[in-house]
Amino acid sequence: MHILVTGGAGFIGSHVVRHFLKSYPACRITNLDSLTYAGNLANLRDIETLPNYRFVKGDITDSGFIENLFSTESFDGVIHLAAESHVDRSIADPTAFVKTNVLGTVNLLNAAKTAWKGNFEGKRFYHVSTDEVYGSLGTEGMFTEQTPYDPHSPYSASKASSDHFVRAYFDTYGLPVVISNCSNNYGAFQFPEKLIPLFINNIRLGKPLPVYGKGENVRDWLWVVDHAQAIDVIYHRAKTGETYNIGGHNEWTNIDLIRQLCAIMDRKLGREPGESVKLVTYVTDRAGHDLRYAINSSKLQRELGWVPSITFEQGLEETVEWYLENEEWLRNVTSGSYTRYYEEMYGGR
Ligand code: NAD
Ligand code: DAU
Repeated sequence: MHILVTGGAGFIGSHVVRHFLKSYPACRITNLDSLTYAGNLANLRDIETLPNYRFVKGDITDSGFIENLFSTESFDGVIHLAAESHVDRSIADPTAFVKTNVLGTVNLLNAAKTAWKGNFEGKRFYHVSTDEVYGSLGTEGMFTEQTPYDPHSPYSASKASSDHFVRAYFDTYGLPVVISNCSNNYGAFQFPEKLIPLFINNIRLGKPLPVYGKGENVRDWLWVVDHAQAIDVIYHRAKTGETYNIGGHNEWTNIDLIRQLCAIMDRKLGREPGESVKLVTYVTDRAGHDLRYAINSSKLQRELGWVPSITFEQGLEETVEWYLENEEWLRNVTSGSYTRYYEEMYGGR
């Protein structure tokens, strides 16, 4: 078995690569990543010398390169995670999201279709997507696999578009696809532009915590290791053409989550209780900010038996510990271009 993982040097991708290498020593994993600002080979240091692992630097928007890779390697499966993934960056530059998330996905679909030549026995194209394609919920209800698509940000519009292409290749060419739509992930190796690692880093440095709007938006948080486990179960056991929602049944308003995070950080850093929460600074809301996401993942639980392995309290505690123990990783990824991004995004704060 030889699986191509795209975006394996990113946050979720690195956990997926690690999970598959450790769980399936007989399976070869090729990790294709162009190493954008979000891709970091340091995320894979502990597994990079394993004999069944190989890294290839390449861009999924380069159709010639992708076709060549598929014709020289023989992949049994693809787990496609490579993407531009940050909503705020998509508001600043939508085009990069169309190129990577839409065109890049279509390039991979074409290459798999050509390489597999209609012989799809034992083949699988797994597209990793997001709950943001469903849009925003009010105070009630949850996203199911039947919820109509209603994306609001350039990021979610590009992911919705890529999902449609993946389904179109199933309907039109019979390409053996599966899709999952997951809620917000947290854990080790997440780039500190996303809420939890950004705030851990700022609390550590005593910098303001920029809360968008009133902090009342709700997200449904899932530990990244549990997401990798769900991807394994879906990759191996889902029926072709199916879609699964993945979520933690774990909704938090941003401000409640931030208070919890501040309390953990105060304890771990030996600060007075209530010290870090003073850093909270309410700033202008994100444009088109979705109010609430909540995932109904009962199909995945019922059909494939997946459930999250730990509680949010355990996962957050473990995550904070990881970032505090890996200050060098944080220092490395927040040097250079990160400083420029931070200045442009948050001004002098
Ligand atoms: P990330 O930004 O941390 O990593 C993305 C990876 O893709 C990076 O390693 C980057 O170098 C690589 N990449 C980007 N453009 C590329 C290109 N043109 N060619 C090759 N490689 C390229 O993202 P993440 O948070 O790990 O998300 C991974 C996937 O999971 C994405 O498809 C995202 O939409 C989806 N997802 C993320 C979350 C979340 O909470 N982070 C939740 C649900 C779904
Ligand atoms: O729901 C899944 C999605 O979750 C993934 O598809 C995306 O790739 C991932 O980035 C994430 O999107 P969000 O926009 O929900 O995540 P983010 O960490 O950027 O923001 C979480 C919430 O925190 C959101 O309501 C915005 C708010 N926020 C975020 C930042 C970066 C702030 O209040 N301040 C901030 O500085």
